[in-house]
Amino acid sequence: MSGEELSFVNEAFASNWIAPLGPHVDAFEKEVAEFVGVRHAAALSSGTAAIHLGLRLLGLERGEEVLCSTFTFSASANPILYEGGKPVFIDSESSSWNMDPGLLREELDACAARGRLPRAVIVVDLYGQCADYDSILEACARYEVPVLQDSAEAIGATYKGRMAGAQGRLGVFSFNGNKIITTSGGGMLVSDDEQIIEGARFLATQARDPAPHYEHSALGFNYRMSNVLAGIGRAQLRALPDRIAARRRNFEDYRDVLGAVPGIAFMPLAANGNGNFWLTCITIDPARFGASREDVRLALQAHNIESRPAWKPLHLQPVFAGCRSRRGDFAAAIFERGLCLPSGSDLSSADLERICGIILATAKHTAGSR
Ligand SMILES: Cc1ncc(COP(=O)(O)O)c(C=O)c1O
Repeated sequence: MSGEELSFVNEAFASNWIAPLGPHVDAFEKEVAEFVGVRHAAALSSGTAAIHLGLRLLGLERGEEVLCSTFTFSASANPILYEGGKPVFIDSESSSWNMDPGLLREELDACAARGRLPRAVIVVDLYGQCADYDSILEACARYEVPVLQDSAEAIGATYKGRMAGAQGRLGVFSFNGNKIITTSGGGMLVSDDEQIIEGARFLATQARDPAPHYEHSALGFNYRMSNVLAGIGRAQLRALPDRIAARRRNFEDYRDVLGAVPGIAFMPLAANGNGNFWLTCITIDPARFGASREDVRLALQAHNIESRPAWKPLHLQPVFAGCRSRRGDFAAAIFERGLCLPSGSDLSSADLERICGIILATAKHTAGSR
């Protein structure tokens, strides 16, 4: 927390707005929309809820396909299954590890040739860095397929001078506890399309029709953000620039020490904008480094330091078995070798030095024990 959250929370308590609506919710929506540079935003209980409602409002129907990045967290695609849709996974490209626009184009052409276009394309801005939207939007515009932009990890990143979340027809953010800013749990759906955002607020509050009694003509959800949590979010949003600066420092410190080490490579920085440096990720080539990704992860764990393998691609996840995918070998290779390093906004230079020391020592120990 940044320290300012308590005054917003106290305000919520003092005004007795302890509900999934209230002045902080309204203000947080307005502030996020202004920050992102879109007209409208709906504050929700999670990023997953935002993707779910987004798909519903784009009209996803049972049996329809939705194309989705394969290299991501399962929450990007789970809502496709909630609605009875069929995910089709698209591999990543090497310059940002995000969805490969060439493969997307191929898949859209193939769908068009079969006469069954997907209902939407979910494009993920992985680890806080935007995908190649010029190429992706051009491919989708050809067939008038809308893009739902999963910027859950990327708030504050930019693409060609515009904030992440503003490129797709709909944008999604997560304020889960592990994100760069958090409301402990929460999400936001953003768009220039007022009707969609109004629709999201309606569905998120149990789809209550305007009537003095409880009248429902659509299936609703309990997906609204609480006024208390929105207060936390307002303070967190103010802290975002400092968080991005801190996480960029993490990345630079890691790169200074590990950047030239044979067998270690950093997730490439995309040329089209600035990331928010949510997580610093590396790949480890065991033949050249002298230890594997798993050797390094376990060495850090032995010192009580948490690191994580890169996302296991969704086309390899048992829950999505049987779903089609367009390639997938690039993401699979990154999964084999990728490691997300400790990346908290409060890491000190001494912490980073210690982590790098353990990583470097792993190669020596592993080589020595062979
Ligand atoms: C890429 C991605 N999409 C969606 C989500 C889901 O967000 P939430 O945890 O707020 O439901 C997350 C993170 O949790 C994520 O990393």
